[in-house]
Amino acid sequence: MIAIYPGSFDPVTLGHLDIIERASRLFEQVIVSVLCNPRKSPLFDVPHRIAQIQACTGHLPNVAIESFTGLTVEYARLRGAGVLLRGLRVLSDFEKELQMAHTNKTLCDELETVFLATSTEYSFLSSSVVKEIAQFGGMVDHLVPVNVAQDIYRCFNKTPPAATPNITP
Ligand code: PNS
Repeated sequence: MIAIYPGSFDPVTLGHLDIIERASRLFEQVIVSVLCNPRKSPLFDVPHRIAQIQACTGHLPNVAIESFTGLTVEYARLRGAGVLLRGLRVLSDFEKELQMAHTNKTLCDELETVFLATSTEYSFLSSSVVKEIAQFGGMVDHLVPVNVAQDIYRCFNKTPPAATPNITP
């Protein structure tokens, strides 16, 4: 069974990586599918995001990384995927994810959405949180793969460890 794992991955976090590693043990093939969304202005462009994910998943032979545009269900059809994989962190994810799963089901009945519960240590983690911390000079080494942390520090022109906070009375 082929599973696609679609997302923005801007950037990939240790939470995403945890899902990818666990999914690679459950499915014959996992395709991490980076959404190329022309309406969003991402921190990293799509080729960069693909390279970042490739660099931290090289040890998983049944995992491939690629990008797509348009509807996820159409992309899944083209790839012959039977499963659309998503990670679930907290209850607030559930509403949006369930709506997406139901919508996708109306568009393609053969594609099953499968949720993997995010490991508890990553339940708070999101790409947005990582970007916000990095923006203010905080350390993100414990949140993203090593190669991604380096890219982020370079991008924000920061050097770890965390810069001293600027306090205005
Ligand atoms: O990492 P994200 O941003 O939460 O991923 C969201 C994603 C890419 C899975 C979702 O936005 C998506 O599938 N977009 C493609 C367009 C589409 O198929 N929309 C209908 C699903 S409701």
